[in-house]
Amino acid sequence: MADSTENSLTFIVWMPEYNCDIAIINCQHKDTLLYLNRWFADIKLRRVNMDDPSQYLLDKIKYLKHFSCQHFSFEEDVMAILSAQYDFNSGSFYPHVAEHRMFSESLLAVLSEQIDHFIKCGNVDILNDLIVESLRDVAKWWYNHIAKDTKNGRPSFDCEYMAFIRAMSPDRKLQLLNDILTKIELSD
Ligand SMILES: [Fe+2]
Ligand SMILES: [Fe+2]
Repeated sequence: MADSTENSLTFIVWMPEYNCDIAIINCQHKDTLLYLNRWFADIKLRRVNMDDPSQYLLDKIKYLKHFSCQHFSFEEDVMAILSAQYDFNSGSFYPHVAEHRMFSESLLAVLSEQIDHFIKCGNVDILNDLIVESLRDVAKWWYNHIAKDTKNGRPSFDCEYMAFIRAMSPDRKLQLLNDILTKIELSD
């Protein structure tokens, strides 16, 4: 999360260690943090219509569902290639996929149900609270998933495969990129 020296409107600061050698994944991760930082700035600058916050919340959840589905799918394809062809530890692949499912099917689904419920009830105060609480929950998940976990020294799920790629020789990285492109072309 942003420290006191960072701009007060930046919620999560991008750190060099989050970089992935696969540009598409890097862009997707950066886009996510940009999205969360904009959400944070909307709250801080009171850019949300507090008399009718429902559309704002619905838009946030809709984007997150769409975006996470695309990103998880691509990332899982990359990890499948790494496991099948590059000796990546497949023991960390399946828990990683389960963590993605947890985000989509538990966290986002529960938030979505809560938002729908309170829209039906017309409870504007709780919907305004949910704008802050949803950001907190989603940001916490993404941060723990992408950034290295410094609390118990264990790498985060994304850190694990990114470190594996980082340690590959330039020739193997090039081969990996070709394998990814081939898989994308075949699935089109
Ligand atoms: Fe992931
Ligand atoms: Fe990721």
